[in-house]
Amino acid sequence: MEKLVITGKTPLKGEVVISGAKNAAVAIIPATLLINGICTIENLPNISDVKLYCEILESLGAKITWHTEHEITIDTRDINANNVPIETTRKFRASYYLLGALLGRCKSAQIGVPGGCNLGPRPIDQHIKSFEALGATVDVSNGNITAKAKKLKGASIYMDVVSVGATINAMIASVLAEGTTVIDNAAKEPHIVDVANFLNTMGADIRGAGTDIIKINGVKELKGGATYSVVPDQIEAGTFMIAAVASKGDIIVKNCITKHLESIIAKIEEVGGNVDANGDHLRVWYSKRTHKANIKTLPYPGFPTDLQAQMGVLLSISEGTSYINESIWESRFQYTVELNKMGAKINAQGKTAVFEGVNELVAAPVYATDLRAGAALIIAGIVAKGKTEIYNLNHIDRGYENIEEKFRKLGAKIERKIVEE
Ligand code: EPU
Repeated sequence: MEKLVITGKTPLKGEVVISGAKNAAVAIIPATLLINGICTIENLPNISDVKLYCEILESLGAKITWHTEHEITIDTRDINANNVPIETTRKFRASYYLLGALLGRCKSAQIGVPGGCNLGPRPIDQHIKSFEALGATVDVSNGNITAKAKKLKGASIYMDVVSVGATINAMIASVLAEGTTVIDNAAKEPHIVDVANFLNTMGADIRGAGTDIIKINGVKELKGGATYSVVPDQIEAGTFMIAAVASKGDIIVKNCITKHLESIIAKIEEVGGNVDANGDHLRVWYSKRTHKANIKTLPYPGFPTDLQAQMGVLLSISEGTSYINESIWESRFQYTVELNKMGAKINAQGKTAVFEGVNELVAAPVYATDLRAGAALIIAGIVAKGKTEIYNLNHIDRGYENIEEKFRKLGAKIERKIVEE
C-alpha cells in the first residue's frame, strides 16, 4: 500500500499542463471497437483506467501499439465480442461503454455489472432503455449484463434523466444502426462532443452533440484511418484552479479550453479568487481571503459534481457559511468526514452540506473515499498546517495523471511513500 505525505502551507506557484480528459478517453477507447480498421489517439491521459481499458480491448483481439505514454494506435479489424474479460469490467464504471460498442459492431455484448467509485446508487436504466429502443434485448442477471440484437434500427430515444454515460452509449450504439436515431434530453458535457467528434472523424454522421438533441444518421461502416486528439480535462484544470486559490498561490493552467471552465471560473471569482482566461491557458491567483458561496451541482454547463469536493475544501476555509447542494450523486459528501478530521466544520445531511468557514485546516491521516475526494484531500493537505497523510491512493491514480508530480512542480511538498503492512 502507498500513501501521500504532504507538508502543508505552501502557496502554489508556476505552470501546470493539463492532460487529456479521463471521461472522454474512457469512452473513445471502447468506441474504437466500432471501427473496422486502424486509428491513432493522441493526448490520452496516463492513468490506470486508460491502461485497464486498453487491456480489455487487447483481450477482445485489438492490436495496440504505444507510441508514447499518451499516444496509441489501435487496430480493431479483428474483434471477438465473446472474449470480454468479465471480472475486469466489474472494476470500473466506464466498462458500460463496451455494451454500446460491441452491440453496435458485433450485435452482441456481455459485461459484468460495472463497479467504480462508491457515489451511491448508479442505475443504468437509461442505457438499457436506449439499447432496447434500437432493437436489442437486454438481460441483467447473475451480476452480468447481456445485450443482443439481430439488427439495430435507428429510433427516438428520450432520456428521462440527463445522463453522460447513457447519452454516449446511445450515440455509440446507433452509429452503425440502420436509419436515423434522435437522442432527446441528451447530456452536453465537453466529453460528449469529444466522443462525437472522434466518431465523425472516423466516418460517423453525428450532429448536434453539445446540445440537448443529438441526431445520428447510421452509416454502414467506420473505416478509421485517422488520428484524433483527446480534449483537455476540464475537471483536472478545475482541480488545479481551486488548489491555486485555496493555497494562496498564483499559477498558470496550460492546455485547457477556457470555455469549458466557465462555471468554475464564475464560482472562483464569486468567492474572491482571481482568474484571467486567455485562449488555451489561464492565470488563477489569490489576493484576499475568500468568502462564502452557495453551490448546486448540475449537468454541464452547470457546476460539475466532479469538482464539488475540491470546491468544498476552499469553502471550508472561506469566511462565512456556505452551502453545497449535490444534485447528481447521493454519497458524494463522504470527503467531509475526512475534512472534519482536519479541523473543517462541515455538516452534511442528505443532499446538502453546510460549511462554517474556519481559519485554517490542520494535518491528519485521511482516506480518499473516491477519486475526486482524493483530489480534494490533496488540496486540503497543501493548505493545512503540518504533515497530512492520505491513504487509498488507487482511487486517485484511476483518474489523475502524475498528480503529485504536477503539484510538486508547483511547489507543493508532496511525496509518495510505501506503507509497511
Ligand atoms: N442516472 C440514472 N439512470 C441511468 C444513468 C444515470 O438514473 O441510466 C442518474 C444517475 O444516478 C445520476 C445522474 O443520472 O444521478 C447522472 O449520471 P450520469 O449517467 O451522467 O453519470 P455517469 O455517466 O455514470 C459520468 C462520469 C462521472 C460524473 C458523471 C456526472 C464517466 C466514466 N463518469 O458518470 O465521473 O460524475 O458523469 O457528470 O464519465 C468522476 O470522474 O469522478 C466521475 C464520477
